Amino acid sequence: MTRIIVFASGSGSNAENIITYFKNHEKIRVAKVLCNRKDAKVFERCKRLNTPCEFFTKVDFTDNDRILSLLKLEADFIVLAGFLLKIPEKVVKAFPSKIINIHPALLPKYGGKGMYGMHVHYAVKKNNETESGITIHFVNENYDEGAIIFQAKTSIIPEDSPEDIANKIHQLEYEHFPKVIENTILSSYV
Ligand code: GAR
Repeated sequence: MTRIIVFASGSGSNAENIITYFKNHEKIRVAKVLCNRKDAKVFERCKRLNTPCEFFTKVDFTDNDRILSLLKLEADFIVLAGFLLKIPEKVVKAFPSKIINIHPALLPKYGGKGMYGMHVHYAVKKNNETESGITIHFVNENYDEGAIIFQAKTSIIPEDSPEDIANKIHQLEYEHFPKVIENTILSSYV
């Protein structure tokens, strides 16, 4: 059984969708969710779904090895689903091509530090883009720069507010992210 650990920082709607998708999967399961914000809604979702959700601090991630040790014991793949901290180099090195992130835009556009969540959709709206989308990619040492696994687009009309854009992007994420995780893991076996 391949064990995924999901990292989330906020609402966790993608984390919930991924947990649900793999619930009865033959080969893959979500072992745990890790969250760096105590008040995040993802804790409620995990409770309802009977999935362990554990809080950790930035210090546990960067200065001591609590999270790295936990990951080495409990994870085969790591999935970042709305996770906002940078992944320390030692974690990237320990999990080469095993950390998958989703970004709510068509990278390399609208990526990098400060470009996350609604900030991305405000920028897309401000620039009058006619399309946006999602990028699923492996994580390397630099924000949003790892090899791209998958992208999907959606069109944007002038009447769309940043919230409308966020909704369109979330729909794409729910539709594709679990399947892309599944295909990436299954194709890593061969
Ligand atoms: C998602 O749209 C995800 O792509 C984005 O945060 C949102 C989290 O929503 N991630 C980033 O911006 C990472 N740079 P959720 O908590 O409801 O899954």
